[in-house]
Amino acid sequence: MNFEKAQQLVASVKHWHHAFEIYPGLVTPGSYNPGFLLDYIDFAQDLSGQRVLDIGSSDGFFSLAAHQRGAEVVAVDYRPKNAHGFGVMEEITGRNFQYHRANIYDLTADELGAFDHVLFLGVLYHLPDMVKAMAIARSLCRGTLHLESHAANELGLQEPVARYYRHSSLAGDITNFWSPNAECIRDMAFDCAFDLVSQRTWGDRYFGRFQINEEPSRKSKLQWGYGLLR
Ligand SMILES: C[S@@+](CC[C@H](N)C(=O)[O-])C[C@H]1O[C@@H](n2cnc3c(N)ncnc32)[C@H](O)[C@@H]1O
Repeated sequence: MNFEKAQQLVASVKHWHHAFEIYPGLVTPGSYNPGFLLDYIDFAQDLSGQRVLDIGSSDGFFSLAAHQRGAEVVAVDYRPKNAHGFGVMEEITGRNFQYHRANIYDLTADELGAFDHVLFLGVLYHLPDMVKAMAIARSLCRGTLHLESHAANELGLQEPVARYYRHSSLAGDITNFWSPNAECIRDMAFDCAFDLVSQRTWGDRYFGRFQINEEPSRKSKLQWGYGLLR
């Protein structure tokens, strides 16, 4: 792969979400630079022997970062990999990923197994049922959940609340549903058997790191919610 070929491949992608150096001296024309989020995630330099699930991988910046550290990476997105930059990222970097074109609601631990790190970045507010999605993320996690989201910080409330966005009223994007606040994310995660380790908010965004909790009673609320009343 030479610079000109890499340049052509980058130009062949209609829309890049991630702005990152995909080849020495060549930066993708993405809508944001995700480097600061990688700092928040704070991966160990060596992830060999660890499994990382990247839910809503988009162009694959985070999948690539985990793969470069030696992790086994599974990327999931409901768009095909050539509808964004993921396929080109694989071609330019010469790395192959397990890429599943799937909706988060269809993921199962039977099919994918369990992961030491689940990346759930920029996806929560795109989902009509946030609790169900977090429960699925929990069923796939044997370690740490890294969650980033749009957040209703502007409400300035201490109670757990989520603001609903009708049609495309959030950023003109019909795929946006909810904007939960930090307390709401923490409490939904609690009921999905995750414990909050650390969190931060900035502007209209949120990032939290969560650890799994194995206490059976922590799953009981969802067993009622998604099961049958006895
Ligand atoms: C805002 S982008 C975030 C990309 C990346 N994770 C990041 O934080 O930079 C949301 C991504 O999630 C994917 N996505 C949204 N809803 C999804 C769903 N229900 N199932 C699977 N992927 C979904 C979109 O296709 C898109 O690539």
